Amino acid sequence: MYVLGIESTSHTFGIGVVEYCENNIRILANVNDQYVPLKGGIHPREAAIHHTRVAPEVLLKALSRAGISLEELEAIAVALGPGLGPCLRVGASLARFLASYYDKPLVPVNHAVAHIEIGKYINRFEDPVILYVSGGNTLVAIQRKGKYRVLGETLDLPLGNLLDTFVREIGLAPPYLVNGKHQIDVCAEWGRDFITLPYTVKGSDLSFSGLLTAALELVEKYRGDKERLGDICLSFRETVFNMLVEVTERALVLANKREVLLVGGVASNKILQEKLSAMTKLHNARFGSTPSEYAGDNGAMIAYTGLLLYMHGITVEPDKAFIKQRWRLDEVELPWLMNY
Ligand SMILES: Nc1ncnc2c1ncn2[C@@H]1O[C@H](COP(=O)(O)OP(=O)(O)OP(=O)(O)O)[C@@H](O)[C@H]1O
Ligand SMILES: [Mg+2]
Repeated sequence: MYVLGIESTSHTFGIGVVEYCENNIRILANVNDQYVPLKGGIHPREAAIHHTRVAPEVLLKALSRAGISLEELEAIAVALGPGLGPCLRVGASLARFLASYYDKPLVPVNHAVAHIEIGKYINRFEDPVILYVSGGNTLVAIQRKGKYRVLGETLDLPLGNLLDTFVREIGLAPPYLVNGKHQIDVCAEWGRDFITLPYTVKGSDLSFSGLLTAALELVEKYRGDKERLGDICLSFRETVFNMLVEVTERALVLANKREVLLVGGVASNKILQEKLSAMTKLHNARFGSTPSEYAGDNGAMIAYTGLLLYMHGITVEPDKAFIKQRWRLDEVELPWLMNY
């Protein structure tokens, strides 16, 4: 059977198709189109207009790559939250329409759950400590008694947002990524010396706003000095990533797990992967990251998670499929996590 998944929670409009056949799951299509603001951060309404504009083409491309028609689908999955209201409404409207018109079950997917499930699927992980770092989230979680339990999270800025804001404020972005490399990694290469910056870990929670302010003040102080700017970028990245490694390591040891899984858009970062991998080795655990194609927002992760939910009998009537802008990861009951 085939399940189609629709992603539109934030900057990306994406559609994925997965196939379930003889106990085997395969990703058949993952077509994504990203809205990139010309300057500044995401403007929700502009992003939504982008999604509306590209939706038909993305849908047709995904179906053609999967080699199937809408009639052949078993179910339609959609990310109903968390995310930006205007963006979520585009995906939700399309999903409600398709489900009603083609008379297919509609499956409500939590976007954060999808980021994690696709990472587990790709790495064949059973019960990892999860570090989920993206534009809108920064948290450490484990699975326990039917839910993902958040052990620690950011108290202010999410990691992706922090990195993007920093490189934007110092004049390097947009674009935030050049050939898949974040601008923070580009400017860190100009640096050599480590500068101590605010490092704020409170229990297993993190705070980044003091660090951001301090780093931006330093940039201002040394304006025009490229080498010093490099030192600041390098130190900024080191400090942030070390904080993340600390809370992940604490979770790994306290929860006594054997796997560490990195998911979310920032999972593409090689330096963060190396640091976590080194820490994980010290504890004789396995480390797994998520390839870029599935790390950032994408339709395949919604289709895949939709398939899992559908196989556990979770669907919603189209007229009750409301978007949930603040749908927290740890609110979602997941049948397949019951026995952990
Ligand atoms: N190689 C990289 N290094 C660092 N950051 C990266 C890299 N590639 C992508 N990112 C960051 O990942 C973020 C986007 O991730 P994603 O698409 O999962 O986020 P989101 O949808 O905005 O957030 P959420 O999943 O919380 O809703 C951006 O902040 C982007 O800069
Ligand atoms: Mg995301």
